[in-house]
Amino acid sequence: MHKRLATRNSEISSFYVMELLRRAKQLEAQGKDVIHMEIGEPDFPTPPTIVAAGIKHLLTGEVKYTPAAGLPELRKKIADFYQQRYGVSVDQQRIFVTPGASGAFLLALGVSLNPKEVLLMADPCYPCNSNFATLFGGSAKTIAVDSSSGYQLTARHIKEHWTPVTKGALIASPSNPTGTLITHEELELCIHAVNTLGGCFYSDEIYHGLVYDSNATTALAISDNVFVINSFSKYFGMTGWRIGWLCVPEEFIEATEKLAQNIYIATSTQSQYAALAAFDDNTLTELENRRAQFAERRDFLYDNLLSLGFEIPIKPEGAFYIYANCKKFTDDSYQFALDLLEAEAVAITPGKDFGSHEAHHMLRFAYTTSITKMAIAMQRLDRFINRA
Ligand SMILES: Cc1ncc(COP(=O)(O)O)c(C=O)c1O
Repeated sequence: MHKRLATRNSEISSFYVMELLRRAKQLEAQGKDVIHMEIGEPDFPTPPTIVAAGIKHLLTGEVKYTPAAGLPELRKKIADFYQQRYGVSVDQQRIFVTPGASGAFLLALGVSLNPKEVLLMADPCYPCNSNFATLFGGSAKTIAVDSSSGYQLTARHIKEHWTPVTKGALIASPSNPTGTLITHEELELCIHAVNTLGGCFYSDEIYHGLVYDSNATTALAISDNVFVINSFSKYFGMTGWRIGWLCVPEEFIEATEKLAQNIYIATSTQSQYAALAAFDDNTLTELENRRAQFAERRDFLYDNLLSLGFEIPIKPEGAFYIYANCKKFTDDSYQFALDLLEAEAVAITPGKDFGSHEAHHMLRFAYTTSITKMAIAMQRLDRFINRA
């Protein structure tokens, strides 16, 4: 045992897809045309209006720290966005600009989770959140979910699994990896259940904006007593800028400010100035145009995977992922992904990156690439499945 390494490191999991990525890079270096459907970020560049606003600020040379909670004008724009998009009024003092949704989670858990406390979350889900709970000395209790609840936690799950050490429940809608939404009614029931039990409710809304058939409900439309995590990464196309936001219940404002000052002082200044342009009409027009393209890609991929024989019990309504069951072809989806990459140069993410429930039968396909490239990927996948 390594004596200088903190013991918690052994409890933090890493991504299996990293092994695939490493191999994909090697294959590319050998001249192979790898089609990337494993990547969880938009292939579109950051909208030029946002880039221009960031550059304009950089050219002033005044790239100093901002207040820890973020530029007041950006906090106001985010608050205004809730009014415009959802008709919800949010006090801007509750909004903190953070280094991505990842930074928002660290703050949210830092101000609320005690050592040994437990956070309820769905299996499958985005894996970093349970690692964050571990980092703070707590843990995640993942609850197996399936298509019957849209791969989302329900109030019934929350009540059933709640114990005296439970701190709260986390819901991500649309979900990564399933792209499915929680209904407005179920979200309301979940928030009500957690508030009645005296816990904290965390709503990861990072894929809001990337919803194709209906509208996603923000938890802020239901209660002020929730943590809402969001980001400029996905809908706004700013993954590398490292900027997102957190909305906290009023009683957490002071503690959140203190923690932000201590952990990172402030979010990147040029990214905050860039994000000021994110809500401009011309930026939103461009983003809506991209959303329409994502919807077309979703339909294309969904139809093709079904016709190849993958099972997808509910059509995903948001994000840019399809979580498909490959049990017709294999009982080891990780090996399937490795072999597919090797044989046909198509990269996808194995289910075991998102939990353990049925993970060996699941694969996540990201439609963060063009229909033209996906069409080639589907031909390759067809050939791979039907190889002699
Ligand atoms: C569900 C979910 N939450 C949070 C994050 C973190 O995003 P970021 O820190 O880039 O804002 C991701 C990234 O893929 C995600 O899929």
